Amino acid sequence: MRTHHQKHHQAYVANYNKALEQLNEAVEKGDSSRVVHLQSAIKFNGGGHINHSIFWKNLKPVTEGGGDPPHGALGWAIDTHFGSIEALIQKMNAEGAALQGSGWVWLALDKEVKKVKIETTANQDPLVTKGASLVPLLGIDVWEHAYYLQYKQMRPDYLKNIWKVMNWKYASEVYENEIA
Ligand SMILES: [Fe+2]
Repeated sequence: MRTHHQKHHQAYVANYNKALEQLNEAVEKGDSSRVVHLQSAIKFNGGGHINHSIFWKNLKPVTEGGGDPPHGALGWAIDTHFGSIEALIQKMNAEGAALQGSGWVWLALDKEVKKVKIETTANQDPLVTKGASLVPLLGIDVWEHAYYLQYKQMRPDYLKNIWKVMNWKYASEVYENEIA
């Protein structure tokens, strides 16, 4: 996780800042084709920064309440839409394991219809690319760099264990703020 934070996330931030600088230059020069060319670097690295910033908030040591299941409004919403927390975890793990290549699996709130749902995004696409009304409650990084050092190629084992340090309190707070 330290490598993930200090090397991988740091690289997204550095490359995002570089792309933004280049974008400013291109805008000043009125270089439209350069502006368009820079969009993919901005999306990839900016998305990487957005996604990882959420990811760190989603994790908490067991000694500080990591893994404690949600109660209150979010717990109720999950029971209503998925049957139980266990059923949600099983479904998210299945979608995360099935995701081809690199990406993210999300527990999202769709603000428009006020429903919780599971979404996946490819590469570093942030959740908002799937819909402007989607708010990320939990995001799990299923890039190989997230688990390879500890789990080798066993993405399902990583997915199974990450719930032990899931910060449901954070997800509940976001849910309650958005739904209010
Ligand atoms: Fe990552």
